[in-house]
Amino acid sequence: MFAPLQNDTFIRACLRQATDHTPVWLMRQAGRYLPEYRATRDLAGSFMGLATNVDYATEVTLQPLERYPLDAAILFSDILTVPDAMGLGLSFALGEGPKFAHPVRDEAAVARLEVPDLDKLRYVFDAVTAIRKALNGRVPLIGFSGSPWTLACYMVEGAGSNDYRLVKTMLYARPDLMHRMLAVNADAVAAYLNAQIEAGAQAVMIFDSWGGVLADGAFQPFSLAYTARVLGQLKREHEGQRIPRIVFTKGGAPWLDEMGGLDCEVLGLDWTASLARARQQVGGAVGGPGKALQGNLDPNVLFAPPAQIRAEVAKVLESFGAPHTEHRIDPATSLPVVGPTHIFNLGHGISQHTPPESVAVLVDAVHACSRQMRR
Ligand code: CP3
Repeated sequence: MFAPLQNDTFIRACLRQATDHTPVWLMRQAGRYLPEYRATRDLAGSFMGLATNVDYATEVTLQPLERYPLDAAILFSDILTVPDAMGLGLSFALGEGPKFAHPVRDEAAVARLEVPDLDKLRYVFDAVTAIRKALNGRVPLIGFSGSPWTLACYMVEGAGSNDYRLVKTMLYARPDLMHRMLAVNADAVAAYLNAQIEAGAQAVMIFDSWGGVLADGAFQPFSLAYTARVLGQLKREHEGQRIPRIVFTKGGAPWLDEMGGLDCEVLGLDWTASLARARQQVGGAVGGPGKALQGNLDPNVLFAPPAQIRAEVAKVLESFGAPHTEHRIDPATSLPVVGPTHIFNLGHGISQHTPPESVAVLVDAVHACSRQMRR
């Protein structure tokens, strides 16, 4: 149904197979730092106008790929589409963050929560299929969702938060309510990601953007356990192709050993983590099990001049070190030999104030420097 992949570097690195260069894509690569994105958003009238229109969503997904030789595309949508479909009433006012008209703050509101009818999210799955067609095999398409905990943060707070006071109040005062909300979220996220896979997503990523605000001892039962509940329900393969699963917990480095036990292929890291240490902890050895690692340049590096961007990119690549380069097929499995691999990304989303020229420098530096390191 879809054209074969011409550049499978990202998928191979996710599966811990050897690649000729380190693949790179950027969280929020389609977004406000691009003037062409702002122009399309103006035509659409609003962020949700973009996300709910298949043609606009396809156009903005492809915009960064027209400018830069990125190794993956990511669906243009938002993590908050799921609570919106649950009836919370999402809106984005220009220049402000997201807002919910009906936040979930008491027992009755929690009791009303249900896995939404996926038909309400049909516009997302239609966008996935349209983007996959438009990509025509250039690079793989990543689908995504928020983690159950990160969605709960927005659902209880009703907007972004500095202190997470309301959601943590519920967590500590009424853990029973919090567990019920997280269970519904996990089952909704799993159904949502499986539908994206069926529509054409070739890898999926769970954004646990606010896992790192939890206390040690709270992260495990309230974030990690529900991410695991999602992963346990996901399709591993679609139409004969493996579907890699990426888990990104911002601020998650203290729990990397525990995250090493998740049933996923890739762990994402922010800039506070040492890629060298993470590789030792969870990267595995050639021929053995382990996680591919994704990250972790500080997005603010992109405000520095080109020479400094190149130097900081090299530092990230060198911190991970040379990935394994065994291109052999393992006769025991008839599959490529696996080993430590790295996917280059930022440690969080790109800033809207980023000069677009900086991204060109970054992508070129990742490709050139990572080829050099394999010689
Ligand atoms: O990465 C991509 O290019 C794909 C698109 C994407 C968006 N949101 C588009 C978007 C992805 C993967 C997301 C995920 C998302 N959304 C997360 C997890 C990742 C992270 O950053 O931690 C979160 C927490 C959200 C919730 C959200 N959506 C917030 C807090 C905001 C406002 C903050 C801001 O940057 O202004 C959004 C809006 C949003 N989602 C924009 C984009 C391009 C900007 C809205 C606009 O164009 O006006």
